[in-house]
Amino acid sequence: YSLKKHNTFGVEACARYFAPIRQVEELEELLIADMWKSMPLLVLGEGSNILFTRDVDGLVLKNEIKGIAVIRETADEVWLKVGGGENWHRFVMFCVGNHYAGVENLALIPGSVGAAPVQNIGAYGVEVKEVVDEVVAWHLETHELLHFSNADCAFGYRDSIFKQTYRGKLMIVWVVFRLSKHPHFHTDYAALREELHRMGVKDLSLRIICDAVIRIRTRKLPDPAKIGNAGSFFKNPQILVAQYGELKTRFPDLPSFPVDAHTVKIPAAWLIEQCGWKGYREGDAGVHSHQALVLVNYGKATGQQILQLSERIRQSVYERFGIMLEREVNVW
Ligand code: EPU
Repeated sequence: YSLKKHNTFGVEACARYFAPIRQVEELEELLIADMWKSMPLLVLGEGSNILFTRDVDGLVLKNEIKGIAVIRETADEVWLKVGGGENWHRFVMFCVGNHYAGVENLALIPGSVGAAPVQNIGAYGVEVKEVVDEVVAWHLETHELLHFSNADCAFGYRDSIFKQTYRGKLMIVWVVFRLSKHPHFHTDYAALREELHRMGVKDLSLRIICDAVIRIRTRKLPDPAKIGNAGSFFKNPQILVAQYGELKTRFPDLPSFPVDAHTVKIPAAWLIEQCGWKGYREGDAGVHSHQALVLVNYGKATGQQILQLSERIRQSVYERFGIMLEREVNVW
């Protein structure tokens, strides 16, 4: 079964078995069979954060669990239970359309709702952890339905318990979001503020923030429907203030964002661009010309070729800056 259409990098890879899952009961019935016990299982959402470098000699479970339902409501807040297989951006548009605030800065992020808490998706000053109330997931080995409160999820920058302890062991069937009926606009991110200014915005609304984010993303990030990619390939590294100070004397233009008293975040895109990779292309594998953090497949690149390019980038950034970039994308 070809996975080319099921990964936004658009690389060729095959799965021995492939099963779309529309309800948690289907998962329960399917996994009872002994034959799956001896082979790898891979849960896939929309494949927007994975790079296949080889075939899956096992079973791919594609999350197609749908539905958006209000499960609780007060004068100020609303709790929405959303199927893990819902498209993330469609969910964002649903919220904006209903004046539920909290996810508008996360418009146009590719992928599914179930994948959102796994890497705690974030953009333009907001992370999904701020609105996740509960995550409900099916354990593929113990066949139990597990409930995770926000604290249980152990969210961090592009990180959660689902990437650590439970890596590869769960299918996220629902996410409960807690959203506000009174918007608190998040416009601290410089690129967002500038865009709102360019648009001549006087009165903020959820719709306008969402539009501004869509405009920035459309300009900077390649549309996976046209050019294969999986968004940022690496995380932005966090380094100690002392290392930052030392680097800043050698590279006075080095940009940074404060994290806490001891740590600063450095844009990986800047490091990669300084090493001369922006717009680089080798065969069909390359580095996006508007955003150096995004690796692209112009057509027929293999997962191996993209991975090799990423390793060369990592090496050159390390040699120049002494910083080892960490991958954000999952490699299979
Ligand atoms: N920059 C460069 N060269 C470039 C692009 C950016 O030097 O080619 C520098 C600039 O100094 C710029 C800074 O990097 O000010 C930040 O760039 P940008 O606002 O584009 O954000 P990013 O740090 O590269 C992160 C997320 C994105 C998210 C944006 C916006 C990570 C790994 N990536 O990228 O998330 O959309 O911020 O908030 O944290 C993703 O995770 O897949 C993703 C796209």
